[in-house]
Amino acid sequence: MNYEPARLAVLDLEPAKSEFLSETISGLSRMPRTLPCKYFYDERGAALFQNICDLPEYYITRTETAILRLYAHEMAQCIGARCELIGLGTGAGTKTRILLEELEAPAVYIPIDISKQQLRQSTAQFHQLFPQLEILPLCTDYLQPFDLPSPVRASAHKIVYFPGSTIGNFEPQQATEFLGRIIDLCDKDGGLFIGVDLQKDPAVLERAYNDSRGVTARFNLNLLRRANHELQADFDLERWRHRATYNSAAGRIEMYLISQIDQTVHIANHEFRFRSGEKIITEFSYKYTPEGFTALARDAGFEFARIWTDEARLFGVFYFTVKL
Ligand code: AVJ
Repeated sequence: MNYEPARLAVLDLEPAKSEFLSETISGLSRMPRTLPCKYFYDERGAALFQNICDLPEYYITRTETAILRLYAHEMAQCIGARCELIGLGTGAGTKTRILLEELEAPAVYIPIDISKQQLRQSTAQFHQLFPQLEILPLCTDYLQPFDLPSPVRASAHKIVYFPGSTIGNFEPQQATEFLGRIIDLCDKDGGLFIGVDLQKDPAVLERAYNDSRGVTARFNLNLLRRANHELQADFDLERWRHRATYNSAAGRIEMYLISQIDQTVHIANHEFRFRSGEKIITEFSYKYTPEGFTALARDAGFEFARIWTDEARLFGVFYFTVKL
């Protein structure tokens, strides 16, 4: 039997393999070809992403964490006592931990992530660190509509925390729609804390996504490896190369896998032909100006309250309240 201690039990709505298969087939059938970036985070992918966070070129995680360390106290004052904190894509939980440590008597914490492994680990750790906190982990693809688990404990208000600039993976139109759904998770007197990567020198951005140790390349190629393992696809990993470029007109990093030769790949009973040089888009990572992101959030129904940034203005943590 698959035994999990009740306190650590993760509400498991992880996407089924059949979804990975159908999204892979439809993404590769489209032009331009795409693969959804949410599938990066299997166990190996989540570990590779942790390695990316430690890279000298990848300023994002380090900068956001530094902003949290400096200003979590101010953020906690905005939040107040006995909140319910809903974490979206909180992963290993390093940043959320910094925030929770500053909060006054937080009542409930609901971490939501697509990586079950990371949810289990962080939940076990958070039970040790915050024995008073009710923790209700939920493993799901939060791009799909979902119901929140019901806490036993009462809270003063609900706060959503969406760190890591994951919002950058959405097209701006989708981002507005998604924030519109997040509003329904916050109370009227609650709010949203969201980490957003800011526009900057394209050279800095391109270095962050083309690191010299090739970790990002392995992270990107892991998507094909996962398709081979889980979907019995036959991608030859030696025949694909990673590349990331900044599209300044669109304000986004574009990450690709590029076919090195003319080749055919089989997945289930489908056959895909790729020309040499042909690309699969695996991720967009939008970068915003503070004004641009504020306007986007306003369209979704949020009102700008505060922004905390680092000195070089590489990254911003925004606090939005719900527009009345
Ligand atoms: C986790 C989506 C914020 O876009 O920077 C890192 C993922 N991709 N390196 C990002 C990622 C390549 C990352 N996010």
